[in-house]
Amino acid sequence: MQKKYRKPFIAGNWKMNMKPSEVKPFMAKLAEVMPRKRECEVAICVPYPLLPAAIAATKKIGVRVGAQNMSQFERGAHTGEVSLEMLLDLGVKYVILGHSERRADNGETDYLVNAKAKAALASGICPIICVGESEEEHTRGLTMERIAYQVKAALWGMEASEVRKVVIAYEPIWAIGTGKTATAEQAQEVCSRIRKMIRGLYDGRIARAVRIQYGGSMNEKNAKELLSMPDIDGGLIGGASLKPESFAAIIAATAQD
Ligand code: PGA
Repeated sequence: MQKKYRKPFIAGNWKMNMKPSEVKPFMAKLAEVMPRKRECEVAICVPYPLLPAAIAATKKIGVRVGAQNMSQFERGAHTGEVSLEMLLDLGVKYVILGHSERRADNGETDYLVNAKAKAALASGICPIICVGESEEEHTRGLTMERIAYQVKAALWGMEASEVRKVVIAYEPIWAIGTGKTATAEQAQEVCSRIRKMIRGLYDGRIARAVRIQYGGSMNEKNAKELLSMPDIDGGLIGGASLKPESFAAIIAATAQD
């Protein structure tokens, strides 16, 4: 019942894969194989150099484009960084923030994720904020402590009107790229607790509006079951988003029976 309130959202995360020249053929194939009538929103988050090609190639197929990071600074002397203004100018709609790979490889903290998320919201780009526990935390029963900390820290200082636009991706680290998906029940349990937390921090209306994705080895085989859960509003898809047929099948899995 609650779910109808939210449009499912399937986002691809290409990570550091694919080349600019591969974008056009990929999108042409995707347009061919994905359902024409869709019950979900679709986005693909690509590396910076692929953004212009992705935006050009998705214009007519109803797919939005996201980045996988952005600078917390506005502009100026920050060598190697990419600003929000640049992303906006290109037509980028989403930005993945706090992915566990960036937390691990680049030392991104919850405070930095919060600063970036607030800046993105202020500019009109929607942040997809990733949270997730490690294998060790999972084994030791510390999942909810880790998730609660990450969610609270990521949303710190945000107005209710901003929070309702945020997308949260629950991505257990042990499930990313491993083929070990969380069971639909495990993922639902965490996503429902995230929603309850948001209700506690804000209110029921905001909690019902926020879209919560599951990410971590989602594929064409397990998508339907995961997406049928009441608090799972979509997926953040890594490996399976690199194959048009697999990504299209996940998009099709959002259709209600
Ligand atoms: P995966 O990646 O689907 O390859 O597990 C998901 C992600 O890291 O966003």
